[in-house]
Amino acid sequence: ATEETLVLVKPDGVARGLTGAILARIEAKGYALVDIRLVEPDRSRLEEHYAEHEGKPFYEPLLEFMMSGPSVAIRVAGNRVIEGFRSLAGTTDPTTAAPGTIRGDLGRDWGLKVQQNLVHGSDSTESAARELAIWF
Ligand code: CMP
Repeated sequence: ATEETLVLVKPDGVARGLTGAILARIEAKGYALVDIRLVEPDRSRLEEHYAEHEGKPFYEPLLEFMMSGPSVAIRVAGNRVIEGFRSLAGTTDPTTAAPGTIRGDLGRDWGLKVQQNLVHGSDSTESAARELAIWF
């Protein structure tokens, strides 16, 4: 069914000038861009977004990384766009993400405590609704 997801181009993607390339892949796949904004999230917005990761070893580095610069938040729509974007993005670790995916083609390990993996995509209809409300 037609649904919406939250895509973030994370600070590494914005800093590397990959926002346009990532948007082009979303559009080329046939999904619709419904809304888009540049956001410099404060800590409380990120604590909400990443609540499920609190206490994990990468949690603090993740928040620091996400506060290191602006992200581009995009509301994307289409049939099965939640699983479709996650497939386009590739798996979490960019070193081993499949070539052809955003992370597999454009990302790599930079030797940091957090995986800088260029994008975020909601993982379920529930997360999409929750996350869209946080970023828009
Ligand atoms: P994302 O899908 O946005 O949600 C959680 C983020 O934490 C993930 O992308 C990565 O940026 C980061 N992350 C997840 N697992 C690890 C890990 N094992 N080590 C470092 N960072 C991670």
